[in-house]
Amino acid sequence: MGFEQILAQEIEDLGGRDIEILRRAVSFTGNKELLYKANYRLRTAIRILVPIYTFKARSQEEFDEKMMMHNWDHYLNFDGSLAIDAYCDSEVFNHSKYLAQRSKDMICDQFREKFNDKRPNVNLLSPDVRFNVHLKGTDFTISLDSSNESLHKRGYRVKTGEAPINEVLAAGMVILSGWRGEKPLLDPMCGSGTIAIEAALIALGRSPHEEGRSFGFMSWKNFDSELWNKIIAEEYPAFPSFKIYASDSHMQMVRATEDNAMSAGVGEYIEVQRKDFFRRDNKDEQVCIITNPPYDERLELLNPEKFYKEIGNRLKRKYTGSEAWILSGNIDAIKRLGLKTSRRIHLMNGPIEAKFHKFEMYEGSL
Ligand SMILES: C[S@@+](CC[C@H](N)C(=O)[O-])C[C@H]1O[C@@H](n2cnc3c(N)ncnc32)[C@H](O)[C@@H]1O
Repeated sequence: MGFEQILAQEIEDLGGRDIEILRRAVSFTGNKELLYKANYRLRTAIRILVPIYTFKARSQEEFDEKMMMHNWDHYLNFDGSLAIDAYCDSEVFNHSKYLAQRSKDMICDQFREKFNDKRPNVNLLSPDVRFNVHLKGTDFTISLDSSNESLHKRGYRVKTGEAPINEVLAAGMVILSGWRGEKPLLDPMCGSGTIAIEAALIALGRSPHEEGRSFGFMSWKNFDSELWNKIIAEEYPAFPSFKIYASDSHMQMVRATEDNAMSAGVGEYIEVQRKDFFRRDNKDEQVCIITNPPYDERLELLNPEKFYKEIGNRLKRKYTGSEAWILSGNIDAIKRLGLKTSRRIHLMNGPIEAKFHKFEMYEGSL
């Protein structure tokens, strides 16, 4: 949520057509090449679904009937495996687990009928085909999940802190900030380094995914490995120059950032330091700060209001001419920064509603 516009832009940049912004989703059309590219290159998508069958059903009997009318062996062999994710907001089915179960039964029943009692197995982790069944009212949409595993799992994270942000959230924050390398990027409370690592991958024009990561479409019947190899060999332009600083007051987090950055192949592009933000000397450099400070009891923050007030004071005193983008789920605490918000974007940090605020520390404005 909150990234629909930038995701639409990412899709347009890859060559997607008929782009439409939906609720927490973006729809588009394109060919197989774009599907592979979208999985490999999009930074703010969680999964990419390919709708294959839509129908209306007003009852479970009608659902069963319609399911039997589609040829499921077009996507899957009888000795293959499948998994089904379901979502429903309807009276026809009111439990998504039951809808998933019923969908699986119908697909397998059709295989049994056609293939002399043989049917695919269920494999929840790495199926040959993961189907997604979406039901709203009486409208069913069945899609193939071309990603299989959520795209936020880039594969580089070897260590985490207590509250790491999701990689997709970190990448989206960097893109929303509009950072293009003109000023050094700084995350002064970097935890396991997600923001700095995603920023480096963006600046280098690299895929956010680790080499060798697998995607759902790779086990489809129509997988084109030649096309895939062409896509992963393609180079994208990097920023002409950029600098990234990451620091944290905990040594363990500094090590985690270093290890994760190495694992992502961007270790040499991030300057990592152990530093308490309140003691960090900024050497009068103008920077673009993107960070998510701790904001609740989980992170042993006993007095969030006081902590945020001190962050605000530090920004005013040491970062004139810089800008700061701060993600926080603690609305009361963020007010204590005592800075004028120049942009506010509503995002989700996992299940927590959060606000992403932009502050500009102009000389004379503080
Ligand atoms: C919410 S976590 C950041 C998570 C990070 N974005 C990630 O992806 O892992 C907040 C971090 O702020 C650090 N921190 C808290 N107080 C600090 C201070 N005074 N100076 C620097 N870092 C601090 C904590 O050690 C913690 O790693």
